[in-house]
Parts: sequence; structure tokens; C-alpha cells
Amino acid sequence: MSKFLLAFLFAFSLAACGGSSDTNTAGANDITTNPVYQKGQALIAKNDCLTCHKIDEKLIGPTYREVATKYASASDTIVPYLAHKVMKGGTGTWGQVAMAAHPNLTEEDATALVKYVLLFK
Ligand code: HEC
Repeated sequence: MSKFLLAFLFAFSLAACGGSSDTNTAGANDITTNPVYQKGQALIAKNDCLTCHKIDEKLIGPTYREVATKYASASDTIVPYLAHKVMKGGTGTWGQVAMAAHPNLTEEDATALVKYVLLFK
């Protein structure tokens, strides 16, 4: 029994260390256990999003927290809208700087990335 418990604790601590230090774990509700978060985190690592966006630090694009806050009370149709914007690129919502197009991103991955971004409200 105690061996089982130790194995469980070990597995749990490994999982707990899996999150990146750049993420928000400050709130009472830990989003890092959310599958939407985990999928987005994996996709973000494979794409160039972090060159222009961080969760809390303003770079070339708006922070993900700003984006999530802006659309916090938007209807669900905002997800496909933003996914297409990420795929096609665009400008004018946050200023004159343009987001590059991401022609290699599938709609499914763009959607997963947008859902991830919208978690940071
Ligand atoms: C070359 C820099 C750059 C890269 C790379 C980039 N973005 Fe952006 N992003 C921007 C800028 C600039 C804006 C603001 C565009 C505007 O004002 O309409 C933006 C806006 C956004 C928005 C909000 C759009 C809106 O209409 O409110 C989302 C969501 C977003 N980016 C997600 C992503 C994701 C996901 C990736 C990676 C696949 C990514 N961005 C890569 C620069 C970038």
C-alpha cells in the first residue's frame, strides 16, 4: 500500500513540474491542469507565437491576458473569428502593427491556440 502511495506521489510531482514557469499559476484556479491549456501549450512551443506574444509582457502583439480580457464576454463565434485571424494575419484591432499570417497552421490547431489564449482572462 505504501509503495503504491509513493508511486502515486512521484507521478503527481512529475506532472506538477511539467508546467512552464512562464504561465499563470498564481490564481486560485490552476489552469495548467486544463486539457485546453495543455494542448495550447504544446502547440505554442511549435509555433512562433511567443516571438510576438507573452502572457503578461507586451511584445509586438497584445499580451494574451489583454486578448482574453477583451473577449471575456464575447460569444462563442469569437473563437472561429480569431482562429481565422491567426491563420490569415491582420491588423487594426490593437493598433497598426500587423500579425503575420500562419498559412501552415490547420484550422484545428488555430482553434486550439485561440481557446488556449482565451483562458488567460
Ligand atoms: C509577427 C508578430 C506576431 C506573431 C508571430 C503572432 N502574432 Fe498574434 N498578433 C500580433 C499583432 C501585432 C496583433 C494585433 C493585431 C491587430 O491589431 O489587429 C496580434 C493579435 C493576436 C490575437 C488577437 C486578434 C484580435 O483580433 O483581437 C490573437 C488571438 C493572436 N494574435 C494569437 C496569435 C497566435 C496563436 C500566434 C501563433 C500562431 C500569433 N498570434 C503569432 C503579432 C503576432
